[in-house]
Amino acid sequence: MLQARESSLIPRRSAESLLTQARKSSHRSKILDLKAKIQSEKYFVCPETTPLFYTSLYTDLPREIQLRYNQLTAMANNEITAYFESSLINILSAIQNKYSLDPHLNQYLDYFCEEERDHIQMWLELNAHCWPEVYQEQSAKFVKQPRWTQPLLRWSSTKKSLWPLLLWIMILQEERSVDVAVRSLRMEPEQLEPQFRKVYQHHSADELGHIHADWHLIEMIYSKLSALKKKLYARTFRWAVKEFLITPARLGVEVIKSLIQEFPDLRTQYSLIKEEYSRLDENSDYQEMMYSRSNHPITFQLFDSIKEFHCMESILLHYRVGREE
Ligand SMILES: [Fe+2]
Ligand SMILES: [Fe+2]
Repeated sequence: MLQARESSLIPRRSAESLLTQARKSSHRSKILDLKAKIQSEKYFVCPETTPLFYTSLYTDLPREIQLRYNQLTAMANNEITAYFESSLINILSAIQNKYSLDPHLNQYLDYFCEEERDHIQMWLELNAHCWPEVYQEQSAKFVKQPRWTQPLLRWSSTKKSLWPLLLWIMILQEERSVDVAVRSLRMEPEQLEPQFRKVYQHHSADELGHIHADWHLIEMIYSKLSALKKKLYARTFRWAVKEFLITPARLGVEVIKSLIQEFPDLRTQYSLIKEEYSRLDENSDYQEMMYSRSNHPITFQLFDSIKEFHCMESILLHYRVGREE
């Protein structure tokens, strides 16, 4: 049943409170215990957050393959999160240079960037600890990009005209990473690998502050835009989410290719998996896991508050303006 949500609006945290919190937690000890052996018989992430779980093949796969798929997906998640975080640092630094921000927010963004630098190092160290043969040679196995994309991305993150779009992608990804962590932390201790438990706890605590800072920035930037520009950004964002962020894109396919290298009998299922992946945007359970009001409460509340973004209803099965299902 649909219900009005006005009474349950989430209050945005002030920049001052974000700053106070960040100062308190800024002197932290190392999160990972690199002396502890990775427990490879355990899951690295909650299986219900992984795309293959939503295909017709998953339940019939042997437990050994399910487990390895889960571990490869978690390492791919670590890579893509580190990649987003490095883009985010570039954007935030550029915003700090271009805008005259509230002093508390400006100081908080310094902590925000510092925390993201720590996270990037943490994800890369964790992957190297899990799979040294692969990650001592390279920082990314699954995130494949031509060499020229890095300078292009660095350049684009400094383009003021792209920030209104990129900030939405950032808040969407940050709420998603918190949800993946929260779901994984709900797993029984004997199911989830202990080093992953530690990083999920640590990361989600920092990300909650980041999401509120993204919220400040989105509101600040959108309050200055004309209705026409807001509409343009909303349509472009809707297109980007549909094309790249709902169904498992290249990253998900790279994980499957890697799984097939370890389990060659799976090769016969490759086309079917790709086909099912391309149709996951029509799968209500999958979409609910990816993007719903329970796992993206602030993003959805922001969609509600900027009417041009009500168009997200047309691609997100679980977004309805101002309401929850
Ligand atoms: Fe992070
Ligand atoms: Fe973050």
